[in-house]
This record gives sequence, structure tokens and C-alpha cells, in this order.
Amino acid sequence: MKPYYITTAIDYTNAPPHIGHAYEKVLADVMARFQRLNGREVYFLTGVDQHGQKVQKSADKAGQSPQEFVDGVTQHFTALWDKLNVRYDGWAATTDIKHKRVVQAMLQKLHDCGQLYKKSYAGFYSVRQEQFLTDKERGPDGSFGEEWGEVVELQEENWYFRLSDHVEWLKNYIRGNPDFIYPPHRANDVLNSLEGAAQDLCISRPLERLSWGIPLPFDEKFVNYVWFDALTNYISFAGYLADEVGNEGLPQFEKIWPADAEIIGKDILVPAHAVYWPIMLHALGFPDEQIPKLVVHGWWNVKGAKMSKSLGNVIDPNVLADTFTPDGLRYYLMRDIATGYDADFSGERIDMSYNKELAGGLGNLLNRSLNMAQKYREGVLTPGDYDDEINQALR
Ligand code: ME8
Ligand code: MG
Repeated sequence: MKPYYITTAIDYTNAPPHIGHAYEKVLADVMARFQRLNGREVYFLTGVDQHGQKVQKSADKAGQSPQEFVDGVTQHFTALWDKLNVRYDGWAATTDIKHKRVVQAMLQKLHDCGQLYKKSYAGFYSVRQEQFLTDKERGPDGSFGEEWGEVVELQEENWYFRLSDHVEWLKNYIRGNPDFIYPPHRANDVLNSLEGAAQDLCISRPLERLSWGIPLPFDEKFVNYVWFDALTNYISFAGYLADEVGNEGLPQFEKIWPADAEIIGKDILVPAHAVYWPIMLHALGFPDEQIPKLVVHGWWNVKGAKMSKSLGNVIDPNVLADTFTPDGLRYYLMRDIATGYDADFSGERIDMSYNKELAGGLGNLLNRSLNMAQKYREGVLTPGDYDDEINQALR
């Protein structure tokens, strides 16, 4: 049987990890351990998403170079995964030279087979949000709202990916492969998003506007759009094109691909993971059997609200692990959410699950059982009268 290849989203390194990040990593670790316990070989990949506008901005603010900045934030992630005993086999950092080589080779492949083209686009551009605006962003009175700041008319050349050529294929693929997305009801969100006229995807940013990214190999005045770069981690660190680009020390791609589970939160399903990603693979020539499977989890909120720096309600997993032990936090994160649905973080709930369930319930049961096994049975387990698997194992 092929090794079980499990991955997670790679976390943005513009800020340290919060409880949502911890949850996703623990979920992946629990699934990986379950497979290992069943005797299956596992490749568990996780990592960090280090390029893009958000990072460049945060680095500027901190007065550091982008690389210094991401190295610093990345340490918060790796230290947390150590602390929480998240046992991964591969580390995907997008500034890793191995990754850059594969991203460039992939872009060149798409370019060579006519999947990329350059065009000039004129439109309204928000300086603050650094993005082009469409009619969707107009308010009821036809103007662009406060949140966009200064809006200018801009003309800019960029590179585009022929996404729209493959939308029909994707719709059929989704309808014909109900196990592509777990939980399956999420597939409807994807199909709904594909209604209406399909657009091509802008995959570049001009150097003047964004320098912290991977240069396009065929036009070095542009860097690659961060999502195109980030999604590629799932194949670059699995050994895709390793021989061609001279990468060493990675798994053998043919042996482990496709991923059996790419674990992501619901916010990055549409369009990134369920539209861009399968279409990228399809355009690169991957057959339908080699499209990876997605596991989509819900959101941790705090008192019904989204966690955010501005609300000051971001939950730090380090503090929780110090108070309730790393295993106590892992237990709570697996216990208080149903995979695929949202959950509410609650200090009372984690306290209850730690003290009542782990210590008072399971801990107490284990302690008594061990004591009684010592006291009345000399600590030796002997088979009973039942003919079940446990008894057979003891015989
Ligand atoms: O989206 N509850 O990075 P990210 C549960 N770099 N999960 C949450 C969460 C919350 N409150 N907040 C975030 C990115 N997540 C990109 C991914 S993948 C090629 C690139 C989840 O740091 C989120 O859904 O914003 C995502 O799966 C992961 O944490 C990283 O989020
Ligand atoms: Mg996010």
C-alpha cells in the first residue's frame, strides 16, 4: 500500500500562531498517528507560507528585512509544534530553495504549454488594500467605500493563467468524485462559486509593487502571486520534478502522490484549494486519479466572534499548553469540535475537560486499574474466557 500522505495548510508567517493553527496541526497529527498505529507508513508534511504582501508589510513595519522577519516568526511555529508533540516528517517553508526551484519549473511548464499569457488591465485600484476593485466592491451609491482608502485608476501589465479553460472539467470532476472533499456538503459551495462566467487568474505581481516573492522564470520583472507559490508546496516537498531541478532528500513523488488528506480551514477552500489547485494540477497534466483529497475543518471562534488582533481576543496556544499541559490542550482541541463544523473556545470548557474528564475520569480510571492489577493480580494480565481479539493476543 502507498504511504499515507497527509498535509495541512501552510501558515502565514506575518504573525505568531493562534489556537486555530494549533487545532489544524493537532488534527493532522492525530490522523497521522492513527495511520501509524495501524501499521501504515506515513508522510506528514506541514510548514509555513513566507512570501507575499502581508509579510512584506509586516517586515517593513518591524524595520526588518522580509527574510529576517519570517525567520523570527517561523520559530514561534516550530517551537509550538515541538511543544505540542506534533510529529511531522517534512517541513515546507516557501523560502526554501528546493521549493523555489519547483515553483519556477512548474511556471515554465505552464508557460511552455500555452497556459500563461500577458495582458494589460486597466481599472480602479485601492492603494491601501493593494488590489484591483470590480463592480462587486462598489457600495449601493456606486462609489467605493471608506475601507478601500484612496482609489486610483491604474493600468498594469500582468501574467494570467487560463483558469477558465478548465472550469468545465472541474465541475465534472467534482460531480463525479464525491470523495474529493470531506465533509461532502462543502462540494456544493464550490459548484455554486463556479456559476456564471469564468475568469482567468492573475498570477503575477510587478516587482515595483511586490518584491518578496518568487520571480517568474520567463519574465523577471514580475514575482509569482503568493497563492500559486503556496499551493505548490504540496508537490514540491513531495519530490515533484526532483530529478529535473536537482532536489535531494525528498520522498519519491511517484510513491506518495496523491495526498490522501490536505487539511485546511473552510476559509481557504473556495477558490484556492477547490478551484485553483485542482486546475493547476490538471493543466500540468495530472490525471483525475492524481487529484488530492481535501479535509475541510471549521473555525474556532471566541464568544461567537472571529478572533482578531483588533478585537484583542486572539487565543495563544502556548499559554493554554502551559496551564493545561500539551496533552490537555490536544485533548480539548479534539474533544470540543466536530470536524467540519465551527466551535467556540471557552476557558471553562478546557478547564472542565482537563480536570473532570482527563484527570477525574480517564486518569482516575487508569490509576485505579493499574493499582488493582498490581494488588490483586500481581500486575500480570491473563486471558479470560472470551474468544475475542484481546484474549487471543494475551494467549
Ligand atoms: O490561510 N479556526 O494561512 P493562515 C480554525 N497561508 N482554523 C483556522 C483559524 C481559526 N480561527 N484561523 C485560521 C493561510 N485557521 C495560507 C494557507 S495553504 C497552501 C496556504 C486555519 O495562517 C486556516 O483555515 O491564515 C488555514 O487552514 C490555516 O489555519 C492557516 O491559516
Ligand atoms: Mg487566514
